[in-house]
Amino acid sequence: MSKKLDGRTALITGASAGLGVDFADQLAARGADVILVARREEKLRQVADRLQSDHDINADTVTMDLARPEAGAELYAEVIDRDHQVDILINNAGFGIWGDFLDVSWSEHHTMLNLDVLTPVHLTRLFAEDMAERGWGRIMQVASIGAFQPSPHYGTYSAAKSFIRSWGEAIDFELRPHGVSCTVVNPGVTETEFFDSAGQTQRTWFQKLTIMDSQTVAKIGVKAMLKQRMSIVPGFMNAFNTWLNRWFPRRLSRWVAHLTMKDGG
Ligand SMILES: NC(=O)c1ccc[n+]([C@@H]2O[C@H](COP(=O)([O-])OP(=O)(O)OC[C@H]3O[C@@H](n4cnc5c(N)ncnc54)[C@H](OP(=O)(O)O)[C@@H]3O)[C@@H](O)[C@H]2O)c1
Repeated sequence: MSKKLDGRTALITGASAGLGVDFADQLAARGADVILVARREEKLRQVADRLQSDHDINADTVTMDLARPEAGAELYAEVIDRDHQVDILINNAGFGIWGDFLDVSWSEHHTMLNLDVLTPVHLTRLFAEDMAERGWGRIMQVASIGAFQPSPHYGTYSAAKSFIRSWGEAIDFELRPHGVSCTVVNPGVTETEFFDSAGQTQRTWFQKLTIMDSQTVAKIGVKAMLKQRMSIVPGFMNAFNTWLNRWFPRRLSRWVAHLTMKDGG
């Protein structure tokens, strides 16, 4: 039986764990071949093997540190060299840093900005041009509900996601006439390795109240991308919070972010 994405190839960054694995699952279940990218080679291979046997698709892997400035160009060259045509791009790899600005080294801020901002922009610039020439492409940028307000203790991270949200929605407008759409997915708190790698091991009351599982978030995100929506906030509580936030003065929404994200326990 033919599936919706038969014959399409999707490249998913950050596909060794968390949301990236579930995005890949959603696409493979619809018949897309997948290219999985992250640093942990063994994890990538395990995900690829499972997807191939579960969904009867081809799954390739590229082991790469995407936080390096040259990573976007290298990944593009590698994918072309392997004769892949990328029809769907999911810029999902990313991490956050929990901590006050002065407590985090410049090197950590820099690495995060490379991975969360510069590499997604570079990959989109490279792959979207090919998609536009062919007249078909679907792109997803993974931002965050942190993109909706200044968030003390996640200041650089939430600002990086604000960039992705604003830029992703803007280029969606420009790419549409070429048959390409760009959907910004803004997850709220999601059960993955994210908070451990951010250094926030204790969940706050807000995080406990609103947490979603990554399969549900990925399902909503992929559906929105395939429907060519400009952006989406998965989950009723998250959507309600971001809607409510629009009516708050910015000073107040900054306080709310502080109160909801500061202390674990
Ligand atoms: N979980 C949440 O609550 C939440 C909320 C809002 C937004 N988000 C966003 O959702 C996206 C996915 O995060 P997640 O929650 O699934 O986190 P996760 O479980 O920590 O997964 C992050 C993925 O990114 C990869 N990655 C990290 N650094 C990398 C690097 N330098 N080069 C290549 N790949 C790298 C990791 O693989 P390797 O370690 O193998 O490289 C992993 O596959 C991120 O953009 C995050 O900001 C998450």
